[in-house]
Amino acid sequence: MKYNSRISSIAEYHFRKLDYIKNIFQEQGIKITDLSIGDPDLQVDKSILEALVADFSNSGFNNYPPYEGMRDLKEAVIKYYRDRFLVDINYDEVIILIGSKEGLNNIIPASCGIGDYAIIPSPAYPVYETCCKLWGVNTYKIELKEKDMYLPNLNSIPSKILDKSNLMIINYPNNPTGAVGNADFFKEIVEFAYENNILVCNDGAYNEILDVDVKPISILQFDTEKKCIEIGSFSKIYNMTGFRIGYAVGNSRAISALLKVKSNVDSGQFKPIQKAAEAALKLDIDYINRIRNIYSERKAAAEMLLDEHNIQYFNSAGTFYLWCKAPYGYSNIEFCEELLKEYGIVVTPGSIFDVDDSTHFRISLTRDKNEIINCFKSLKSYK
Ligand SMILES: Cc1ncc(COP(=O)(O)O)c(C=O)c1O
Repeated sequence: MKYNSRISSIAEYHFRKLDYIKNIFQEQGIKITDLSIGDPDLQVDKSILEALVADFSNSGFNNYPPYEGMRDLKEAVIKYYRDRFLVDINYDEVIILIGSKEGLNNIIPASCGIGDYAIIPSPAYPVYETCCKLWGVNTYKIELKEKDMYLPNLNSIPSKILDKSNLMIINYPNNPTGAVGNADFFKEIVEFAYENNILVCNDGAYNEILDVDVKPISILQFDTEKKCIEIGSFSKIYNMTGFRIGYAVGNSRAISALLKVKSNVDSGQFKPIQKAAEAALKLDIDYINRIRNIYSERKAAAEMLLDEHNIQYFNSAGTFYLWCKAPYGYSNIEFCEELLKEYGIVVTPGSIFDVDDSTHFRISLTRDKNEIINCFKSLKSYK
């Protein structure tokens, strides 16, 4: 068999490899605390499950859904943007996805041809780069620096790259750093998109995972000409990583190109899952605040223990991640190995998000507060 040569340029997905290592530990009866993948441990709200199950009684629940998503769910997304961000969206400016990962992959061929450029952040969710490689799209990586609060310095992009770029992916609230974009940043990025005729896509998978007093923000609030898009997910805030669903909103040409790709490669998400997502969007602000409180408490507990053990981290207002530095004298890989072997703690080395990173590691606060406290309590003190 002859292979696509581009396949050899990407590695197996880190979290798939990690499953293998975790299984070995479990088979040996070694207890591990998994703070690696961003897969929430929290319960799915009852109303979401009820809506999912109720739809099994509707005729046609088992048939193909509309490719662009069910109208009621599209309406619920439109209402969410109106209520939460004061942004009006039309039907042709929204599409339902099988999770945001699907949209992030499909927006690449929807906007770029083979040999074109996409500008992506670094460190970042690794899918941006691997999917660009798979589609034959070149990437220009814009380094996110702590001194810039992990916001991209747009002036650092060479003009010859701007000329060749069709797409730029940003991600706020940001994985892995937890950084949040403010209004000034979003205004600047929208202006940048207009000036350079580049489709800017904000990956908003963590849009509601914020400290309790922080207001969520959408790129569409500043995109008056609707030239950008935003991708959203039900995975993180509604604990629905397994029943996969998300959406993209914004520029109608980009949404229609996304639909063209999507309708050729998949046939939409199972209707009961779309109904579950519709129910999720009916949950009120108390639900969102409850989830935010849980992560804020976990974060405060973890930060206190990291401080006690002299492990530095970025003080962030978003996501359920902590972006930390390996202690003095350790590379991130060495430290992640020590955490696993000595304490049974699984975290993610920064090199997964940026190949050149030998310093950072990411903690995912997706375990109960007491479990987090117990595992970090036992650490020795570092310099
Ligand atoms: C930044 C970012 N975007 C997108 C996703 C994918 O989420 P979904 O479950 O909606 O595909 C993840 C998952 O971890 C993520 O971290």
